[in-house]
Parts: sequence; structure tokens; C-alpha cells
Amino acid sequence: MKEIRFGIIGLGLMGKEFASAAARWFHLTEIDVKPVILAVCDTNKEAITWFEANLPSISFTTTNYKELLAQDDIDAVYCAVPHNLHEQIYIDIIKAGKHLIAEKPFGIDKKANDNINKIIAKHPEVVVRCSSEFPFFPGAYEIIKAIENNEFGQIIEVEAGLLHSSDMNPDKAINWKRIIKFNGEYGCMGDLGMHVLHIPLRFGWQPTDIKAQLSNIIKTRPDGKGSTAKCETWDNATILARVEQKDYSFPITLHTKRIAPGNTNNWFIKVHGLKRSMEFSTKEPKTLKVLNYKKGQRQAWQNIELGYESAYKTITGGIFEFGFSDAMLQMFAAFCDELEHPQNMLQNFHCVTPEEASKSHDIFTTALKTNNA
Ligand SMILES: NC(=O)c1ccc[n+]([C@@H]2O[C@H](COP(=O)([O-])OP(=O)(O)OC[C@H]3O[C@@H](n4cnc5c(N)ncnc54)[C@H](O)[C@@H]3O)[C@@H](O)[C@H]2O)c1
Repeated sequence: MKEIRFGIIGLGLMGKEFASAAARWFHLTEIDVKPVILAVCDTNKEAITWFEANLPSISFTTTNYKELLAQDDIDAVYCAVPHNLHEQIYIDIIKAGKHLIAEKPFGIDKKANDNINKIIAKHPEVVVRCSSEFPFFPGAYEIIKAIENNEFGQIIEVEAGLLHSSDMNPDKAINWKRIIKFNGEYGCMGDLGMHVLHIPLRFGWQPTDIKAQLSNIIKTRPDGKGSTAKCETWDNATILARVEQKDYSFPITLHTKRIAPGNTNNWFIKVHGLKRSMEFSTKEPKTLKVLNYKKGQRQAWQNIELGYESAYKTITGGIFEFGFSDAMLQMFAAFCDELEHPQNMLQNFHCVTPEEASKSHDIFTTALKTNNA
């Protein structure tokens, strides 16, 4: 088993997810490469404590990421810090010659993303990918395979989204995602949009003729210190666009919503075609909806119970459910697999490339300009 020596920068919600995935790597049965987390960094010393307590492999901790990057025994970094820090920290990681799996939106805005890409271009020896785990849910993965195999015929329409609802509570204290300085002007689009665009962009479904409706629904929140703070970022976005194919075009609708009643991190994709239609949502993680159509015949949706049919084989029985932390494990497996076998991955759905992340920035930037136009 080849070992990739990792450092983590940013030990919040997502830093812990990577640590947990690495800690149960033996869950995967076929992969011949594994991450070993040697070093962790967070400016908040308390965040480091959890990692020291749970990851015996850690030999180096710091509150200054540059010290982590100076460690010669680190091959790769997972970086999960607020959006305003992506540009500088990602650039420094790449310049230090470490492979990078970093979080979306991959720069707080288009300028930051362009600056990261300029440094990537100067370091072809470094593999850089952006995190987006939902396509590794078995239902989504089935849709990916069906797109690869051209099973849809002419595409009628595509709709995809990521829906949250915890911000519906007006008493929820403000966090960095509601403040432009930390989260950026894209608001919910930067926060959630890469997840929604991963599959469309992978298959060249580049949205054009973009029109967006952006909403700031709850305008102030408690600041957690007894006063009220202004919510500066967009809560909800609906982008309507067109995808040009060789001899036809189809509409695509992209939803990124922080206030979508009843939805707890529900990611979905619907691809409707003249020969086949498929729909999957993490709301029903076992269920894949499929409609196969033959000319003149009746139309009937099938609900297929998929169970745990993952991209990378695991010890989990095929009848069991797949969840968020399983998707994270699969995504990190894809990153390690690509590092070790760049031309010959065990399966071919790789993590988001910098080019794809850059396209997502073009879309969000245009959406901001067209809002309510
Ligand atoms: N892939 C996903 O599903 C997913 C889900 C949530 C968040 N994210 C992304 O992950 C990133 C982090 O989000 P989060 O929810 O984990 O945030 P978080 O607030 O839980 O964690 C961020 C951590 O970064 C630390 N930090 C801040 N400045 C730092 C610095 N200079 N050096 C080192 N550490 C520093 C903070 O102290 C904090 O512990 C964001 O880019 C976000 O968009 C991805």
C-alpha cells in the first residue's frame, strides 16, 4: 500500500471529515494507496486538540500554515479554510510543491481564482483538485455512467441543485458565510455552486445565456454577542441558462439555496432525455429514478433501490445505505487514486479540475451581473 503523506490546513467542519475518512481507509477494499496525516494546522489552537486526540499519526502541529508547508515529509495538503483565505493559502501550498485538494469555491471571486490558476500553470508537477463529493453517491454515479454511455438520447432538460434550510431560523447567529469579506459576493453560489456544476461541466454542458434570480431573504441576524449584524450575502440563487450541443440546445436550471424549506443539504440532479430520464437526490439516498422510453410505448418511472454501489469498492454490504461521510471517503479515494495512477485510475470519475472550478467562477460572475435583469 503506497502512502501519501498529508497535511491538513483548516481544522473545522471539513478538516475533521478528511481526518475521519483517512482514519477508516481500511473500509476501501481495492485501492492500493492511502493518506497518512502527519501534520495539521489551524489558527485556533483548540481545533488542533481534537486531531491530536484522534489521529496518532500526527507528528507536527502548528498555528502557522507556512510552517506546515516547510515540512519536507508532506506530499499533499487538504485545505479547508474560509473563502477569503483560499487565494493566498492555495498559492503558497502550490508554490511549496505540495499536491492540493482544496475546497470550493476555489477563490473568493474570479480575480482570486484567476490568480490561483496562474500559479497552477507554473507548477505542472503539482496535482491540484477541488472538492465536490456528491457525484460519488451511488445514484449520482449511475447517472454519470449513463451520460458517459450516451443513454439519454437528445437531452430535453437538466436541473441540479444543493438545498439547505438551517438559515430559515432567523435566530441562528450570523456566521462567515453571510459576510462578503469572508464568503465573497457570490454568496450561496460560491458556497454551494461547484457541487451543482460538477457533473454538468464534466460532460461539457457549459451554461450560456445565463439569467439569475438572487435573493437576500433574512437581512439581519443575531451577531452572537447580544447585537444584530447585517447579512450581506445572497441566501438563494436560481440560475437559468442554455447548453449548446452540436445540433440542438437544452435548458439547464441550477439551484443553490440556503433557505429551501425542509431541505437539509439535499443535492440533486435530474437529466431528462428523449430515450432515458434519470433523477437522483441525496434526500432519498438509495433511490434512483429512471424512465426508459421506446417510441409509442407507455412511460413509467422506475424507483430502483441501489444500496451501496460505490465507485471504489468497500466492505459495506450492497444492501446498506450510503451517506455524506461515505461520499467524502470516495472523493478522497479518487484524489489519492489519481495521484498514484494519473493515467489509469481504478475508475475514471476524478475530482473537480481547476479548469472546471474556473468555469464555475465565470458562471457565478455572469449570474451576479444578470441578477433580476
Ligand atoms: N465539500 C463540502 O461539502 C463542504 C462543506 C462545508 C464547507 N466546505 C468548504 O470548506 C471550507 C471550510 O469550511 P468549513 O465549513 O470547514 O469552515 P469552518 O469554519 O468549520 O472551518 C474553517 C477552519 O479554518 C480555520 N482557519 C481560519 N484561518 C486559518 C488560517 N489562516 N490557517 C489555518 N486555519 C485557519 C478556522 O479556525 C476553522 O477551524 C470552505 O471553503 C467551505 O466552502 C465544503
